[in-house]
Amino acid sequence: MAGKKASVWTSISFWRRSAAWVTGLATILLIWLTFDTMAQIRMGTDQELKEGIKRRIPAPTVINYKIDYKYDEKRGLEAPVIGPEKQPLFGKELSPKEAAALLHLGKLTSQSKNCMDCHTLLGNGGYYAPDLTKAWLDPMWEQTMPAMTGKKTKEEAMVAFLMHPDKYPTHARMMPNLGITEQEAKGLVAFLKHMSSIDTNGYPRGFSKTIKEFQTGGTYAK
Ligand code: HEC
Repeated sequence: MAGKKASVWTSISFWRRSAAWVTGLATILLIWLTFDTMAQIRMGTDQELKEGIKRRIPAPTVINYKIDYKYDEKRGLEAPVIGPEKQPLFGKELSPKEAAALLHLGKLTSQSKNCMDCHTLLGNGGYYAPDLTKAWLDPMWEQTMPAMTGKKTKEEAMVAFLMHPDKYPTHARMMPNLGITEQEAKGLVAFLKHMSSIDTNGYPRGFSKTIKEFQTGGTYAK
């Protein structure tokens, strides 16, 4: 054995140095990923919306625009398409301040009434009731709900439903009346419209397919 060089694999200093390098590189990678995530989830501005600059989370004034949901061939998933046509909520275009205030009321209401107890929002919450991430885009708000609630527009029908869900049962399970006021319901509609404009990388997967299946008597909610 004497004079024979020990293998590098048994060298303590080799392992010490490797551990230091791996820890250092992983730290740099994590810091970079943190900043990248922060940039991706930063809410856009009204100016960016006006200029058609895409942000994953658009400014609150996105509720002044028409929001569509289309299959993106390149990405292989469904993604929101915002504008360029305007479609103001309740027929009135809101300023950035007004839109932010309405959205905030909706968010607070969703928290105080605990919608997540039963529903999923952006991947969090219960599976008892329909996923609300893209609820605004559910064609039933245009097709059947206005007639059912006696309202003219999609958003008014949604307000009527949210205030009296027990009067308009649409699925096999019924949503209880949560004592939501008209103003709170309007805030919730703004909150849901804004959420539908968020680019969630196609989540919930196959939204349009699930809706179509449901409309044609599929397996959902049976
Ligand atoms: C106790 C459980 C429960 C809670 C809490 C609840 N919901 Fe519901 N919700 C349901 C059920 C069940 C349905 C499906 C019944 C129906 O459509 O008649 C539903 C349906 C809905 C729909 C229609 C979804 C669609 O597109 O088909 C919307 C929108 C909605 N809820 C919004 C809300 C909001 C906003 C809140 C919080 C303020 C909330 N819900 C709280 C149980 C709940």
